[in-house]
Amino acid sequence: MLKLLSLLRDGRFHSGEDLGAALGISRSAVWKQLQNLESELNLTIFKVRGKGYKLSEPLHLLSAQTIVSDASHAPWPVFIHDEIDSTNAEGLRMAARGQSTPFVVLAERQNAGRGRRGRQWVSPFAENLYYSAVLRIEGGMRQLEGLSLVVGLTVMRVLHVLGVKQAGLKWPNDVLVADRKIAGILLELVGDPADVCHVVLGIGVNVNMQATDQVDQPWTSMRCETGATVDRNHLVALLSGELERELKKHQAHGFAVFQAEWERAHLWQGRTVSLIAGTSRIDGVVKGVDAHGGLRLDLNGIEKSFSGGELSLRLRDDS
Ligand code: BTN
Repeated sequence: MLKLLSLLRDGRFHSGEDLGAALGISRSAVWKQLQNLESELNLTIFKVRGKGYKLSEPLHLLSAQTIVSDASHAPWPVFIHDEIDSTNAEGLRMAARGQSTPFVVLAERQNAGRGRRGRQWVSPFAENLYYSAVLRIEGGMRQLEGLSLVVGLTVMRVLHVLGVKQAGLKWPNDVLVADRKIAGILLELVGDPADVCHVVLGIGVNVNMQATDQVDQPWTSMRCETGATVDRNHLVALLSGELERELKKHQAHGFAVFQAEWERAHLWQGRTVSLIAGTSRIDGVVKGVDAHGGLRLDLNGIEKSFSGGELSLRLRDDS
């Protein structure tokens, strides 16, 4: 089926006869595969009598070669899958098998994409970015403090460079445009966080997605915001380069050097929020983040910091 897709990816018409000859199958087998492409990969294929078949628009697939030639210097090695359960899960498996770090896992689609707090990350074929960078961290807890916030800040900056000027942050690491999510980040760890561990920086960016009924929260995409199709290979090259630079800075100086910029980018600065941890809830006003990446809340005149992967933030209705 993917062979057929690669013949069609130029977005031009191809006759059933030519496609069948190229694949060594009958015209009716071509027809069947076309139907599978539509139903399984959610692609729109135009079928015009006398002309043949074409995709509604050209398809630009991920390519390790293009990513490498686009990068300003030798980028982190990339491993690309047509389909995988989760790029984070695959990154963890590869680290366990001894793959040398750093490296990046990408997929055209995920069938079990993981979001924060056990949620699913909707991952349609070839539309968005599903990116996991795997790093080895040796410096203990200090190297992990504020790391996910630095990743969020870096993703936001890359979106700004590519024209999504309104992108901002929501603690701890959502990237939003107004109140619509455009990117999400999920860090996963294996090993001893106090000593040597592997960390997977899982990044999902809504890139060219224009419609879906599967996402259960307000969302947008780069294409929805800019009106233009985004080259995902270029996005990967840019993102890896920026992450490499910013993570070096984070390793050397900790989160404190990012604190002021992070607060300027925080869309909910000064807002009244509820901080949710399981069934408990704390209401307060957002003051910013501390030097370790914890959320600073004003609770009736007393400032307190909060941190932890399972926390989530909601705007209070009356804020
Ligand atoms: C969130 O809930 O906001 C975090 C979403 C993280 C999704 C990305 S997509 C690439 C990587 N692989 C996964 O399974 N999840 C992350």
